Amino acid sequence: MQPSLRHLPRALRTARQGPRAAAAAAQASLRQQPAPSRKLSTTSPAASSSVNETEISHFSALASSWWDPHGPSRPLHLMNPLRHDFIQSCLSSPPPSPSTTTTTTTTNPRYLDVGCGGGIFAESAARLATTHSVTAIDPSATILSVARAHARRDPSLTKNKLVYLNETIESLPLPLPDQDEQPGGFDIVSLFEVLEHVDYPSAFLERVGQFVRPGGWLVLSTIARTWTSWVTTNVVAEDILGVVPPGTHDWYKYINAGELREWFERKNDGGGGREGGRVWGVPRVMGVVFVPGLGWKEVRGSEKVGNYFLGVQRVA
Ligand SMILES: C[S@@+](CC[C@H](N)C(=O)[O-])C[C@H]1O[C@@H](n2cnc3c(N)ncnc32)[C@H](O)[C@@H]1O
Repeated sequence: MQPSLRHLPRALRTARQGPRAAAAAAQASLRQQPAPSRKLSTTSPAASSSVNETEISHFSALASSWWDPHGPSRPLHLMNPLRHDFIQSCLSSPPPSPSTTTTTTTTNPRYLDVGCGGGIFAESAARLATTHSVTAIDPSATILSVARAHARRDPSLTKNKLVYLNETIESLPLPLPDQDEQPGGFDIVSLFEVLEHVDYPSAFLERVGQFVRPGGWLVLSTIARTWTSWVTTNVVAEDILGVVPPGTHDWYKYINAGELREWFERKNDGGGGREGGRVWGVPRVMGVVFVPGLGWKEVRGSEKVGNYFLGVQRVA
């Protein structure tokens, strides 16, 4: 599915006329236009759904090839080991304040994987011996049928450890307090390559955050909105190399790590947490680069250029 050309930068439209024309147009654009700001306000409209039907149709059409490691989802397969490394680095980082020490330690994490797709991360998380459970949700029933069929191949996964739900984060009931009346929630809420596909990212993040228990982590990966990412993800990956299908990315929906940092900081303003304290700790960010033939590699500072991971601990 093609994105509306109306929304695409001129050089991307030119890319369809060939790489040379695209490169020339990209250079001209670089000189002329600053990157516009993505609306990530704290006061976005109360959205009843973050789902964009065009996005869901696009991904549903890829469902049958989701588990082909050489198919359109290849970049997601190759990214998976780094997701686990990044989560481990978050879990082993020092607590943001002494008061959170007791809620930080999680020996048997409960995961919520939001926008799980065919289950590349959800399955791998459920296979970890330490994992208590994985709840994986996606708005596409078509993709979830592929995810469920794949998980059934491994009976150890479906013995209550991995559950797929055809839900959005808005339709999923909020976690209830535990038996000690402490706030409930998941130890790790993952949001891999989803944020750049949702409508109303601020309201979406606000809702996702409510599923993280105090001491738990929200871990996401997404793409910065820079001219480099526009050239690499839209022009090179989609139009020239064809690593991902055309129409997968809308550059205007990308969000910079700095914008997310500010968003979490603003959520702490006025002490929105329990007992008037902070809600979120200081986000950890890791920039990653796709190296053809080698896969994804961590490259310091590259979060300012393109793909990155961000993890943030809920402190209250
Ligand atoms: C690029 S895929 C990533 C899939 C999976 N997280 C992974 O990385 O392997 C994007 C996924 O986000 C889902 N998605 C799109 N909009 C969503 C929304 N508003 N809420 C939750 N998931 C959404 C799509 O159905 C699709 O499965």
